[in-house]
Amino acid sequence: MDLWKGLDVLRQKKWTVTFAILNLLSLSSAARSPAQSPGDLACRKLQHALGPSIVNKPNDQDYHSVVFGAWSLFNTQYSPTCVVLPRTSNDVQITMAAIYQYDSKFSVQAGGHSAPKGWNNVDHGVLISFEHMRNISYDSIKDTIVMEPGIRWGESVTLLESQGVAPVGGRVDDVGTGLLLGGGISFLSPAHGFAADNFVELDVVLVDGTLVTATETNEFSDLFRALKGGANRFGIVTRYEVRAIHTGTADDKTWFGGLIQYPPSSFEALAKAISNYTLYATDPNAAILLYFAHFLQPDDTVQSFAIASIFYNGTSLPSSVFGEFLSIPALQTNLSPMSYPEIASSLSEPQPANGHAQMFGAVVIAGGEDDMHVEVLRQWLNFTNVFQDEYNTTVLAFTPIPISQIAIGRERGGNAMNSPLGSAISRLPLYINECDKKQSVFETYGQYEFLKQTYAKYDPTRFNVRRMDGPQGL
Ligand SMILES: Cc1cc2nc3c(=O)[nH]c(=O)nc-3n(C[C@H](O)[C@H](O)[C@H](O)COP(=O)(O)OP(=O)(O)OC[C@H]3O[C@@H](n4cnc5c(N)ncnc54)[C@H](O)[C@@H]3O)c2cc1C
Ligand SMILES: *[C@@H]1O[C@H](CO)[C@@H](O)[C@H](O)[C@H]1NC(C)=O
Ligand SMILES: *[C@@H]1O[C@H](CO)[C@@H](O)[C@H](O)[C@H]1NC(C)=O
Ligand SMILES: *[C@@H]1O[C@H](CO)[C@@H](O)[C@H](O)[C@H]1NC(C)=O
Ligand SMILES: *[C@@H]1O[C@H](CO)[C@@H](O)[C@H](O)[C@H]1NC(C)=O
Ligand SMILES: *[C@@H]1O[C@H](CO)[C@@H](O)[C@H](O)[C@H]1NC(C)=O
Repeated sequence: MDLWKGLDVLRQKKWTVTFAILNLLSLSSAARSPAQSPGDLACRKLQHALGPSIVNKPNDQDYHSVVFGAWSLFNTQYSPTCVVLPRTSNDVQITMAAIYQYDSKFSVQAGGHSAPKGWNNVDHGVLISFEHMRNISYDSIKDTIVMEPGIRWGESVTLLESQGVAPVGGRVDDVGTGLLLGGGISFLSPAHGFAADNFVELDVVLVDGTLVTATETNEFSDLFRALKGGANRFGIVTRYEVRAIHTGTADDKTWFGGLIQYPPSSFEALAKAISNYTLYATDPNAAILLYFAHFLQPDDTVQSFAIASIFYNGTSLPSSVFGEFLSIPALQTNLSPMSYPEIASSLSEPQPANGHAQMFGAVVIAGGEDDMHVEVLRQWLNFTNVFQDEYNTTVLAFTPIPISQIAIGRERGGNAMNSPLGSAISRLPLYINECDKKQSVFETYGQYEFLKQTYAKYDPTRFNVRRMDGPQGL
């Protein structure tokens, strides 16, 4: 069973024919592009400055693997004028300075998993890919992890496993570091905050090519905070230094958990249980991801089920936390002692991970609003029915954000989302990494005004907003 598919409100479109046609169109439009466009000028300058192994044109090998490597097929339907594959921060500075000088469109790609169309690829402009910047190392003296932006979460855990540490990253192995700039939700988050709450130091290339190092306390502390949720709008991060979490090696089976699979007859009880869990579960050692899935099988039959991935940092699952999930009738239950590396690989994507056209959309609801949780489930079931001829997979996922996760972010200087604490359930922020591009996510942030001011300070000509696709509202 393909467990990985259920991570968001994610819908795969039937589209083989469409894909072939768009593919031809995009090739012919590339051939017609004007010779002296800003993208051409920037790419020509960059080829001279950085050389052909870093700056790839359409016939070069890495150009195709990057452009067609985006996870959603929608994001492979672009023809950048060139793909820049930097090896160092300095390469990124040179690239950004040229993009700025020639007023070229641009985009940035790390793990490539953005669902919104155009957020990690571009037509007639420069695409910066971090495929060749994927170092990671642990500094035991500072107890931090230094990562380049090309690393994927599965790799990060594997490479640091022998040292018993991991960054707070994502839950699916093939996803990349763009997740950090949108906040980042991990099974470690209830105990350690959003992934971005663990930033220690960030190297950031600003729109004009200037490189700055931002920390919680230095002169760039405003930029540092804006990057915790500000997505791709505040500069290009070329180096992340983050807190190391002592998760243990593969031999340390200090966690307990796994997967429970449920039939459709349990769906409504599950929606109520996740509502109740979100309201009452305060134990930061507990983590859960619940999703409902509707898959069209290759033989045209439909598979409909729910999966709860539940993990507890401890020797068993406390019934005070997970009791409801354990008592709802299940199809199969696979729970055992686990190491963190096992947890990190338990939601892995089949290779190749891409190959479908994807769409996301998200809402936020307060814990305890049972009726709303059930209503969202009903809406999803209705959507699935109404559009069953258009989409062959639909998934609805619930991720509880416990109070502990929000409190940790505040202790560490705050993030841009700035969720309210306690019972102030109006004005909850949307989670940008799971939204559609039409959703005005920044407007829902607790720090929206701060975000706008900080954006105006670091990008006074609004270059990023004018020349790169990404979240609206700044
Ligand atoms: C299968 C799947 C599972 C997921 N699971 C989780 C999960 O468990 N937890 C969670 O929080 N989210 C999850 N997500 C959502 C995920 O956080 C977002 O899709 C995220 O944008 C992916 O980052 P990326 O590096 O893979 O993608 P990319 O598309 O490469 O990057 C995402 C965005 O960030 C920008 N960006 C990337 N790197 C930089 C940089 N260095 N500087 C400036 N801008 C940059 C890109 O331009 C793009 O707009 C999941 C998504 C999928 C598809
Ligand atoms: C989903 O639909 C596409 C296009 O019709 C098809 O190629 C693909 O095999 C389908 N996937 C499944 C799992 O049925
Ligand atoms: C990354 O690793 C490679 C290979 O080990 C090395 O050549 C390069 O200098 C490293 N880059 C950084 C920024 O440490
Ligand atoms: C797991 O719990 C123990 C004991 O409460 C704690 O010391 C440890 O830091 C926790 N591990 C993680 C990865 O949070
Ligand atoms: C909700 O959770 C609380 C705390 O775990 C529990 O006491 C209560 O019985 C649950 N409510 C329902 C309806 O299951
Ligand atoms: C089901 O979805 C369709 C299409 O969005 C909508 O028109 C209809 O009102 C929905 N029905 C219910 C009962 O929500």
